[in-house]
Amino acid sequence: MKYSQVLFSAAAILATAQAAPAAAKHAGHQHARRDVVTVVQYVDSNGNPVSTNAPGVTTTVQPPASSEATQSSTPASSQGSSAPSSSSSSSGGDFQDGTIQCSQLPSGQGLVDLSWVGYGGWASVMDMNGNTASSCQDGYYCSYACQPGFSKTQWPSEQPSDGRSVGGLYCKDGYLYRSNTNANSLCEADASTSQAVNNKDQQIAMCRTDYPGSENMVVPTVVEAGSSQPVSVVNEDGYFQWKGMKTSAQFYVNNAGVSMEDGCVWGTEGSGVGNWAPVVLGAGTTGGNTYLSIIPNPNNKTPPNFNVKIEATDGSSVNGECSYENGSYSGSGSDGCTVTVTSGSANFVFY
Ligand SMILES: *[C@@H]1O[C@H](CO)[C@@H](O)[C@H](O)[C@H]1NC(C)=O
Repeated sequence: MKYSQVLFSAAAILATAQAAPAAAKHAGHQHARRDVVTVVQYVDSNGNPVSTNAPGVTTTVQPPASSEATQSSTPASSQGSSAPSSSSSSSGGDFQDGTIQCSQLPSGQGLVDLSWVGYGGWASVMDMNGNTASSCQDGYYCSYACQPGFSKTQWPSEQPSDGRSVGGLYCKDGYLYRSNTNANSLCEADASTSQAVNNKDQQIAMCRTDYPGSENMVVPTVVEAGSSQPVSVVNEDGYFQWKGMKTSAQFYVNNAGVSMEDGCVWGTEGSGVGNWAPVVLGAGTTGGNTYLSIIPNPNNKTPPNFNVKIEATDGSSVNGECSYENGSYSGSGSDGCTVTVTSGSANFVFY
């Protein structure tokens, strides 16, 4: 039986922050804005920010005790399938500007149709001034979801100055155009340094925030019972930067048994779904390190109906230990926990 070599060095930090998003003006559909935004900031061992994963005001920083740490991997065979992904549906093919009507969600390219969200399959429809709409129309950015393990490539380099973000394809004269012509395809592969492994007997709907964009938690990664899916470990060095800071992916994780359609939505107070889901996960890679986090949702302190841990895969090097078991986070406290994967990969294991 092999165990991974584990060293603890870099510090990875969690923070939650109160943030008051700018009030959105709604052209059509209304939805509630969250009043608390969970912000994760990773810092290096000197306390300098490495990245953040949500806009808003990032505050408290709490270096882990350096005595903390070390985890050994268990044999991969106990972790369900480690086969990477179903990405054969691929993100291939170039997008042709000005050829697809705004009323039509592009197909292929790795896009996922979010029909249950109510915006014609889009994740959100926003303009630069904070207006939203329920269908993709002239003057708006139409943001879309990519399949698990992929991230969208489209957002305008010019962003609102008030801290909101905007992403997606741009609708002009009835047709869709790339807002970032540096990318030819609409979805790009993330780092393959983490999978979600579901050892429960019910499916788990993980819901990534639509970012840059509305932050609607509607981008699904559904992990069926007894199976696994790639986690979108966003390549922060090439991804959207918020006010000069790199950003990672953020997932709201619903209780096992909650469907994608019920869970990957903007929830209501006390609903336990969407932005009220019991756990938040963070994932990103920068400078050769992958940061993976389990984070409390300030909206919901009730423990989920699963435990979750971050587990090194065989032969990988992971600094730190991180789990949420029986309603308690590993380590010191209530702020959640983070690991740094310095080589190989680590999985979020639900059990
Ligand atoms: C959680 O509960 C199980 C079953 O009671 C127990 O075996 C395990 O040690 C507990 N874990 C923690 C971290 O308390």
